[in-house]
Amino acid sequence: MKPPMVSVDDYAVEAHKILPHSILGYYKSGALQEITLHENKEAINRWYIRPRFLRDVSKRSLATTILGHNVDVPYGVAPTAMQKMAHPDGENANARAAGKIGTAFTLSTIATTSIEEIAKSAPDTLRLFQLYIYKDREVTANLVQRAEANGFAALILTVDAPYFGIRREDIKNKFTLPPYFRLANFQTDDEKSTLANISSGGSNINEYVKALFDPSLSWEDITWLTRITKLPIVLKGILTAEDAILGLEAGATAIWVSNHGARQVDGVPPSIEALPEVVKAVNGRCEVYVDGGFSQGTDIFKALALGAQMVFLGRPLLWGLACGGEEGAYDILDILQTELDSVMALSGCATVKDITRDMVIRKEKYARL
Ligand SMILES: Cc1cc2nc3c(=O)[nH]c(=O)nc-3n(C[C@H](O)[C@H](O)[C@H](O)COP(=O)(O)O)c2cc1C
Repeated sequence: MKPPMVSVDDYAVEAHKILPHSILGYYKSGALQEITLHENKEAINRWYIRPRFLRDVSKRSLATTILGHNVDVPYGVAPTAMQKMAHPDGENANARAAGKIGTAFTLSTIATTSIEEIAKSAPDTLRLFQLYIYKDREVTANLVQRAEANGFAALILTVDAPYFGIRREDIKNKFTLPPYFRLANFQTDDEKSTLANISSGGSNINEYVKALFDPSLSWEDITWLTRITKLPIVLKGILTAEDAILGLEAGATAIWVSNHGARQVDGVPPSIEALPEVVKAVNGRCEVYVDGGFSQGTDIFKALALGAQMVFLGRPLLWGLACGGEEGAYDILDILQTELDSVMALSGCATVKDITRDMVIRKEKYARL
């Protein structure tokens, strides 16, 4: 019998017991020494919450908006590849769980469920499509067109992955997508066979990315993308003020601060540390989202105080899926709702708008006061 599961960490512990070794390795690992992976969490703990009292918190709402769409909670599901390795219902389960809690689900380009299936299985969920740009622009244009035709609300263009980072665990495990799964967004025989033909000398997902993703991508390509779609474009993976500004100039609608769950460059800043720099740079001209290491309501509260419009979660949903499919994924989102509601109530915030910048302070700064 499973022990009572009352936190994202409880789910993580259970999922680590359930998942096959090489799949767990793929889901949990970060790049190289995993310093940024640990820092993503550590850095959140370096912020303290400054609660305010006697502010009537008897009626509370966690609702907010993202790109003009109403959501019931200020956090959503980040794109993670190949979710059917965690549970047979994979992306469908995650998308439905997001819809049930009233938030956004982001489908990865390299998902094990197609754009069309997600539109069918989660018609009422706010769906975002994460895009990788392929050397063959026809492949990219086709994905964009299908995302539009299937009611996805935005393109989340991941800019931090011209190649995949070096994840030692995957190399050791010779990680490969088990043969009974497929990258479901690729339809033509050509597209399907490319993955099959890639040798699995190291980690074959890395070989796939090397063979197919376009590492020559530059800011002009963002402009190209704005020309072939009417959907808003969100740049995911921004970590500096400079790139946030270039992104806006190139036509992006919003910026998503992320270090890809610390899977690309080990040694980049933890997301929560990069967030204030980006928020300051865009200066209210666009929405800013963040992901990386968030696993408690208090974590989300801190990111909102630092100016994030939405917080996204990657691995926590994989742990939820692994433990209980849609129910497990929903439970993760529900635990976060309870925890965020609690910290809001106990810190004097009846609405998300009440979570202001002065409600968090860096640990070091606090000590100097
Ligand atoms: C197993 C795994 C697969 C991922 N796949 C993708 C992907 O396909 N596209 C993408 O833009 N980001 C991908 N990411 C990054 C996530 O979108 C997100 O940035 C990250 O997981 C957030 O950190 P967290 O896992 O600590 O919440 C992946 C992350 C993990 C852990």
